[in-house]
Order: sequence, then structure tokens, then C-alpha cells
Amino acid sequence: MSSVVVSMESASVEREGQTVLTGIDWQVTSDQRWVVLGPNGAGKTTLLQLAAAQLKPSSGTVKLLDEDVSDTDPGELRPHIGFASSALSRRLPYGETVLNVVLTAAYGLTGRWKEEYEDIDERRAHRVLTEWKVDHLADRRFGELSDGEQKRVQIARSVMADPEMLLLDEPAASLDLGAREELVRLLGGYAGSPSSPAIIMVTHHVEEIPTGFTHALVLAKGSVAAAGPIAETITAEKLSAAFGVDVEVTETDGRFAARAR
Ligand SMILES: Nc1ncnc2c1ncn2[C@@H]1O[C@H](COP(=O)(O)OP(=O)(O)OP(=O)(O)O)[C@@H](O)[C@H]1O
Ligand SMILES: [Mg+2]
Repeated sequence: MSSVVVSMESASVEREGQTVLTGIDWQVTSDQRWVVLGPNGAGKTTLLQLAAAQLKPSSGTVKLLDEDVSDTDPGELRPHIGFASSALSRRLPYGETVLNVVLTAAYGLTGRWKEEYEDIDERRAHRVLTEWKVDHLADRRFGELSDGEQKRVQIARSVMADPEMLLLDEPAASLDLGAREELVRLLGGYAGSPSSPAIIMVTHHVEEIPTGFTHALVLAKGSVAAAGPIAETITAEKLSAAFGVDVEVTETDGRFAARAR
């Protein structure tokens, strides 16, 4: 049985007196895998911060895992939400080992201080590292890894605590073609597994949407320009309107491509 993990009704966010998001109505269930697209500054990262309990709406309602964020301690919600972004990765200790970077997520920390870890946590950390194909790097220092390896370690870290939703802000940004394809393939496998949580991934490129993603939301100027099942939403007409460029969109074996006409 799927359950609703994100429910937004007329949600708006104001920052420094500017309206950044307005009138967002959106529901995500545990069996859905969403991609969020939209021009620079459209509000994608802000939308993810709302879904991550890092930000409360200025008006409207945001419910996460059945709790209204406006009257819930965010500290109670966050352990159930996996979140990876480059802003967050800059806070990870670069001298720490990969194993510890993942292990500390079990305690919601960013460094290994003096906690005692249980064997069971260590076994799980190796399991998630293996799942994201980085277990051979477990003893290396996080800061010494390539960008592609670091991105996969970050995702391993964000699923370590067995979250009920996984939020990814541009996970493939800055990766070379090989590293991008490896990440997209791993994300596709993860998205396709019925035991995986709900996934929401922000990206700039339709080429980075893994197979198995079910829904898309297109943001433009802080509002939902289009949202729904992926094939009905990632269309030339809808992307052209949102990005203000006349684009053509193709889909081959569940992967998309877009270019200006
Ligand atoms: N902390 C903040 N304080 C004030 N304004 C902010 C803050 N964070 C974001 N904004 C503004 O909110 C708007 C949306 O920003 P957001 O980062 O959500 O966009 P985005 O769609 O993720 O863009 P990008 O594609 O460039 O990552 C922008 O105009 C931005 O300047
Ligand atoms: Mg952003």
C-alpha cells in the first residue's frame, strides 16, 4: 500500500520580501519517483527544502509523512528524510573516511566524534556503500574521491538511515559522461525497486532522468507550470513554454533527450 509522503496545498514561500514559490499544490506518494525541472531561479531548491523540513511555508499547508510542518518539530521529521545536495556535501568533513561519512548519518551527524557504533550499523553502512558501488572506497578519505565517487557516497549516506523519502538536488551536476551514466544507471535500479522510498530529484537536464521515474513537475517563476505522469509532462510543448525556448523532446527506452529546434 502506498502512502502520501508529501502533501502541499497552496504552499507559498517568501524570502527577503520576494515571493519565491506561490500556490504550490502537490502530492507525492511512497511509490512515486518524481523529477523536478525548471529554469534557474524557478524555485526548485526551495521546493526541495520545503519537502525536506528545512523550511516552513510562509502560507498554505505542507504535510510531510502525515505531519503538518507548521506544528511539528523539524528535528522529528528530518531523520526520516534522506537529502543530498552540493550545499550539504560541502559540510561533510573532507578528512573523514568514506565509511564514517556514511556511518554518521545513522546518528544525523556530519562527523565521527566519540559515539560508539553498533556492528549492525557498520554492516548496513557497507551494504549501502556496496549498493552505490563505492564499498571499495570505504577506508579512503572522502575529500580525496572524484566528484562522481563523492556523489555516490553522498547518496549512500542519505539512504543509510532507511528514509521514507529520498531528495536529490542535481545529483549529476559536474559529472563527466561516464560518471553521469553510472549514476543514472544506479538511480534507475534504485527507482525500480519496490522497496525503495519515494524519490524526488531536481535536475536541469532531461538526459539525467533515470528509467523508472514515474512523474515530473515543471516549475516556472515559482509556480507549477506542469505536473503529472512523466510521459505526459516532459513534452516539447510543456518544456518550451516553461523554459521559453522552442525545444524538441525525444524518448528512447525510458531515457529522454531535449534540444532547441
Ligand atoms: N536564502 C535565500 N534568501 C533569499 N532569496 C533566496 C534564498 N534562496 C533562494 N532565494 C531566491 O529564491 C529564488 C529561487 O531560488 P532556488 O534556489 O529555489 O531556485 P532554483 O530553481 O533551485 O535555481 P537553480 O536552478 O539556479 O538551482 C531565487 O530568486 C533566489 O535568488
Ligand atoms: Mg537549485
